[in-house]
Amino acid sequence: MTIISGQSNPQLATDLAHELNVPLAEVEFSRFPNGEQRLRILTPLADEYVLVVQSMSGDVDSCLMELLLLVDAADRAGARKIAVVLPWMAYSLQDKIFRNGEPLSARVLANVISNQHINRVFLFDLHNTSIVGFFSVPTSMISAQGLLIEYAKQNFSDVVVVSPDFGGLKRARSFAEALDAPLATIDKTRDRDTGEVKMHSVGGADFEGKTCVLIDDIISTGSTVMVGAEFLKSMGAKEVHMLATHGLFAGDAREKLSTSSIDSVIVTDSIHQASHPKIMVLSAAPTIAREITTLYKTKN
Ligand code: R5P
Repeated sequence: MTIISGQSNPQLATDLAHELNVPLAEVEFSRFPNGEQRLRILTPLADEYVLVVQSMSGDVDSCLMELLLLVDAADRAGARKIAVVLPWMAYSLQDKIFRNGEPLSARVLANVISNQHINRVFLFDLHNTSIVGFFSVPTSMISAQGLLIEYAKQNFSDVVVVSPDFGGLKRARSFAEALDAPLATIDKTRDRDTGEVKMHSVGGADFEGKTCVLIDDIISTGSTVMVGAEFLKSMGAKEVHMLATHGLFAGDAREKLSTSSIDSVIVTDSIHQASHPKIMVLSAAPTIAREITTLYKTKN
């Protein structure tokens, strides 16, 4: 097996290669004078099982094009089978038509990827698991839940697990069960036009003096984490921490986090993270490697 890394998160691809004990292919990346992407895989791939790893963050559309070019190049180089690993799948938040006239972007992306010469896609904690149905090639869904639960077990006590919205309640419930902790939810609303997030209380929950652990899949603009922390502290919480698989931190979210009342944010490295005093990053490589090993041992 050989891993080919896109340029979005080479550290994760390197860690994955290390976990799987397989080589990383050498690839030359450059641009044509007109700005188009140009690349060349220098490592021979004939008859190899190839994993193309691309986390679609930063310049998202460039990441997609780079992924497609890498898959095509690997195919032309004679790879026996090609699997794509998407630690973060771009456009997965547009998984529904929220307002008339919008595209179903997650499906568009799944179609484009499925139409390549690939045998499988590995996905990591999708916002909506129904997105797997948009792919017409076999998919494997990998979850960071075990990793995040282990972190919470080792670092927090007297915890209330909090879902920031009703949509995340199922995720938070299995978290609470694993921690043997009480579960609460708050009711988040987001204005679809302005993006403004508001939190509303749901009766019965007692946050006084507690360590609240907010569970989410994604931190995007950071509004949920910041407004959520503010809200829980106003309800008497002693500490508020957020655990999420993907840290997008769009726009100035990182700067805003520094002055927000959240105590810490724990994310995986599904998206490359620069260091930040409030952000703790957990390596996703062992979790992803485990899933790949299980599958490839049983089903080449
Ligand atoms: C929404 O349903 C998701 O689960 C997250 O809560 C959301 O994407 C977080 O976005 P933001 O950081 O912009 O509030």
